[in-house]
Amino acid sequence: MRRPLIAGNWKMNLTPSEGAALATQLRQRIGMRSDIEIVLCPAFVALPAVAEAIRNSELKLGAQTVFWRDAGAFTGQISPPMLVAVGCEYVILGHSETRGRFGVDDADLDASVLPYFSETEATLNRKMRAVLPHGLKPILCVGETLAERDAGHTEQIIRAQLEGALAGLSADELYELVIAYEPVWAIGTGRVCEAAEANRIAGYIREVLRTLYDEELAQVVRVLYGGSVKASNAQPILHQPEIDGALVGGASLDADEFEQITYCAPTR
Ligand code: 13P
Repeated sequence: MRRPLIAGNWKMNLTPSEGAALATQLRQRIGMRSDIEIVLCPAFVALPAVAEAIRNSELKLGAQTVFWRDAGAFTGQISPPMLVAVGCEYVILGHSETRGRFGVDDADLDASVLPYFSETEATLNRKMRAVLPHGLKPILCVGETLAERDAGHTEQIIRAQLEGALAGLSADELYELVIAYEPVWAIGTGRVCEAAEANRIAGYIREVLRTLYDEELAQVVRVLYGGSVKASNAQPILHQPEIDGALVGGASLDADEFEQITYCAPTR
């Protein structure tokens, strides 16, 4: 049985003290739940403060991205052992924002610079290979843009993203993998993907895992949905048979909302 997982991606919000305050509230409300797994993913600088706030609770800590080398002359980067040292168990990889979709609305930013900041299939594959030996569990995000969906390329894009990120990795290395289906058009837009459609794509992700690996891995890997999840729409999404939880952005910054979302998850 796959254990439901609800992760809050705080993105570039909350200072260390603000993060610790939210984590403390959540700890008091849902910190002892073991029926589902709850993961908080603050910004790098808030990781130690949040780790301290959730110490000796059931809440888990995750980072929002990572570099693929353990140490060295990589100014501004954070390594897998550094994340482990501050208490991270999870790390988000391949979020559409770290894939370089952010900044595109800034009129004064030349779109040609964006690829230099962004994750590619090749760098994501390096990150996957780098985190697994340290015991960090990846939350690998995949998803299509609206243009890709409208062109009928959704499945093709998701397959390519999975093949790219997982290249060269064996099934044995991937039992703790979590995949988040985050259609780019549903992120921060208030436009949530229909529950049945999200379920269909989650099933497709399992089908890709089945063809790349085997049935066992396809059944073990947890597949989350992310994109405008709120307390008011979480119930039908979280009750889909192929969906094992949610990666929540904006609504994870509000203790009431996030708590309510966790109670929408079925306990399996
Ligand atoms: P929103 O829930 O704010 O749409 O963000 C989703 C997301 O990107 C989570 O990683």
